[in-house]
Amino acid sequence: MIQIREARSVDEIMLTEELQLDAWGFSEREIAPHSALVASQHSGGLVALAWAEGEAVGFVWGFPAYAGGRIWMHSHQMAVRPDWQGKGVALALKRFQRTWALERSIDTVTWTFDPLLTKNARLNLGKLGAWAGTYYADFYGLRTGLYAGIPADRLLITWELEDERVRERLRHIPPPPPPRGKPLARTSGAGLELRPLDLLEPEANEVYLRVPSDIEALKAADMGLAEAWRLFTREAFSRAFAKGYRAVDLARDDDAVYYQLSKAPDR
Ligand SMILES: CC(C)(COP(=O)(O)OP(=O)(O)OC[C@H]1O[C@@H](n2cnc3c(N)ncnc32)[C@H](O)[C@@H]1OP(=O)(O)O)[C@@H](O)C(=O)NCCC(=O)NCCS
Repeated sequence: MIQIREARSVDEIMLTEELQLDAWGFSEREIAPHSALVASQHSGGLVALAWAEGEAVGFVWGFPAYAGGRIWMHSHQMAVRPDWQGKGVALALKRFQRTWALERSIDTVTWTFDPLLTKNARLNLGKLGAWAGTYYADFYGLRTGLYAGIPADRLLITWELEDERVRERLRHIPPPPPPRGKPLARTSGAGLELRPLDLLEPEANEVYLRVPSDIEALKAADMGLAEAWRLFTREAFSRAFAKGYRAVDLARDDDAVYYQLSKAPDR
């Protein structure tokens, strides 16, 4: 039984430091100190912990963001302890965050994630119904743990809390769809064969961008190839977004994984 609730004390917020070390494998220097989360909670942010069997097994942290006369929540971190991953804890944390935000008249939550972490893409796009349309090359400069070896590129996720697609996914989460049409990249043997990016023709409503299904294993086996994927997908996402596409889902075909890129607004 998993219970989600707002952090009630500084001691509880301190638990997020251990969770960061466990989930990301960051160096001590790269974790967010608990004092930053305390200050954030004190000034309109949300720090929520997931509890199971009397222990904190995950958390989500977001804070108010402001630009162009609009206020929304930017969710900076979410982590689930490795032995509790794959059990729906992240989904429960995000659903709590959505309710919490709506109760405060906040209708949008944003965050960034590494597009080569396909587990996160499945959660963000497929399970939560959010979308991405902005790419940041080497956003953080993080270089340890899960992010070691290749530049820390990020997609900016937008979660429109009242959007029909989001409501739909709250009711029912479909399995990853199969890709349709020819993907923009394929592997041959150990190498990477890229199809020309001019395939992103304006009239195609939907294109599929193949990505490695397990970037961690690929990095362990061949860091150079992992970096080639980073640079290729950086270019592919950037070009697609410049042409008005959005990343809206993660598709699966046997053991291959693809981003579904759809023309906005009829995604
Ligand atoms: C990302 C993270 C928060 C997800 O937590 P979680 O509780 O395991 O997530 P969930 O169980 O709700 O969902 C995981 C989904 O990804 C799927 N998945 C797992 N590996 C996958 C892969 N390689 N490719 C695609 N999907 C994958 C799972 O099957 C599951 O989907 P399903 O329910 O349809 O089967 C957790 O893995 C984590 O803490 N990672 C390290 C820190 C991090 O990356 N934080 C988020 C970035 S800010």
